[in-house]
Amino acid sequence: MALEPEQIVRLEEDRVVLLDQRRLPEVVVELECRSAAEVAAAIRDMAIRGAPAIGVAAAYGYALAARRGGDLEEAYRVLAESRPTAVNLTWALREMLDDPTPERARELHREEVERCRRMASHAAELLAPRTRALTHCNAGALATGGYGSAVGALRTAWERDLVEHVLVDETRPLLQGSRLTAWELEQIGVPHAVIADSAAASFMAAGEVDCVITGADRIAANGDTANKIGTYGLAVLAAHHRIPFCVVAPTSTVDLSTPTGSGIPIEERAAAEVSARSPARNPAFDVTPAALIGAIVTEDGVHRAPYTESLAGVVARA
Ligand code: MRU
Repeated sequence: MALEPEQIVRLEEDRVVLLDQRRLPEVVVELECRSAAEVAAAIRDMAIRGAPAIGVAAAYGYALAARRGGDLEEAYRVLAESRPTAVNLTWALREMLDDPTPERARELHREEVERCRRMASHAAELLAPRTRALTHCNAGALATGGYGSAVGALRTAWERDLVEHVLVDETRPLLQGSRLTAWELEQIGVPHAVIADSAAASFMAAGEVDCVITGADRIAANGDTANKIGTYGLAVLAAHHRIPFCVVAPTSTVDLSTPTGSGIPIEERAAAEVSARSPARNPAFDVTPAALIGAIVTEDGVHRAPYTESLAGVVARA
């Protein structure tokens, strides 16, 4: 059974409660955050992750600070600084400025899930019957606060009998694919197999991939798209093998104030996530150039190149 939005993150009387994604799927346990600073720590430490989901968590954290009569400037700052790449975080906080109430935060959460359902429906229309898809990281309900973006599209397509199988990139170093996406696909009954990230090229060469479908953390005005590290490599591989590469993300992920991907801040996380004993580099995201992206699907519909035109005027709205 699919995860409900309130199971992923919710605001209670005096706390934000979230499903701790660091320990899934082996351990299903909730984490309680009693201040904006604790919500920010949960985002930074990736107890909750995925671009729209961290926006929703930040909105709840801000509403919690407002309800307690806390320092809202400080709450905004600590939440906005918790992770740099996904624009949904600052988008959600800005949305909360005029009305920092629990009701507005819950409405924002509902709106994000509704966007997912709409874009999933648009994206499913791009898939032919018996599609064998490949996805990277986790762009499912856990990453969006409910339903999912890329995984939501696969879910809708599965319900329309369009999906044969999904290859799930393991997604080093934190294994969002093998831990979270595989778990979600199992819950909704979609046939899938986890692969090592480095196996994607061979499956494409063998003709076992009909499309690559991912989420996004920030989409620049020209369509350049930041997503989990490894996405860029997949897009290059997909182009080489003439496989459609499709990004599914809500308009809250589109950042028209950043003209191109070179302006997107890329988070570098702790070396210890990659290697316990050697020096390591750990960029958490990369930027896929717009030229490698066949379609960007939002709740508004399917956007095609040139994205500077097709994304112009895109704004997140209810
Ligand atoms: O570091 P993470 O796990 O927060 O990275 C998440 C991703 O890269 C997702 O693909 C992206 O947020 C899209 S989620 C709908």
